[in-house]
Amino acid sequence: MGKLAPSILSADFARLGEQVTAVSKAGCDYIHVDVMDGHFVPNISFGASVMKSLDTWETSPYDVHLMIENPDQYISDFVTEKTEFIVVHQEACPHLHRTLQNIKALGVKCGVALNPATPVSSLECVLGQLDLVLVMSVNPGFGGQRFIPQALEKVSQLRTLREENGYSYVIEIDGGVTLDNADEICLAGCDILVAGSAVFKAQDLQQRVGDFKRLITRI
Ligand code: DX5
Ligand code: ZN
Repeated sequence: MGKLAPSILSADFARLGEQVTAVSKAGCDYIHVDVMDGHFVPNISFGASVMKSLDTWETSPYDVHLMIENPDQYISDFVTEKTEFIVVHQEACPHLHRTLQNIKALGVKCGVALNPATPVSSLECVLGQLDLVLVMSVNPGFGGQRFIPQALEKVSQLRTLREENGYSYVIEIDGGVTLDNADEICLAGCDILVAGSAVFKAQDLQQRVGDFKRLITRI
């Protein structure tokens, strides 16, 4: 049964609280928070103060995706009562094991994201430590890009490794997710689907979340 995490990168920032409350009330499982620094990825989005401005609104738990260099310096800024996951990039963390320990020490669940060119094998030594693995199905930096189908092979690999070794991470996919490919992604074994433009560019946000949820909870 798949879960949905709408990415606020594609929201109308001038109406952020209102829109996040709408998708949360419609039953989305997480709010995906895309943080970009203009160094690790070629785009700047927003920082912790924007995320924290949502704390007083009715929202689903936060799934924080840090597309930034030196994440250790900023991790604690993103911890609030509503933070469920903090996800760092494998490619941005030379001391990944320590970074994951730092996240856990703050009392939140830890995850690692893999760019399309980074293999699952690069996580071999930390898989047992992880609560979440995020498979990028676009090159990070922008919403509205086309889904890279090879990401589904990584999802299957991660599922097999979890079964064989008794790991407990959930598998998330991020980038180019639409109503047209959501069932295929769930069938590959994905647990959480991030959708930015496919949710926030819809005319009726609540109806779109409902459409996604009906589709992905069937599988
Ligand atoms: C890409 C971000 C994604 C993005 C997804 O760098 O990590 O979360 O917002 O947007 P869509 O769903 O429009 O591809
Ligand atoms: Zn993301």
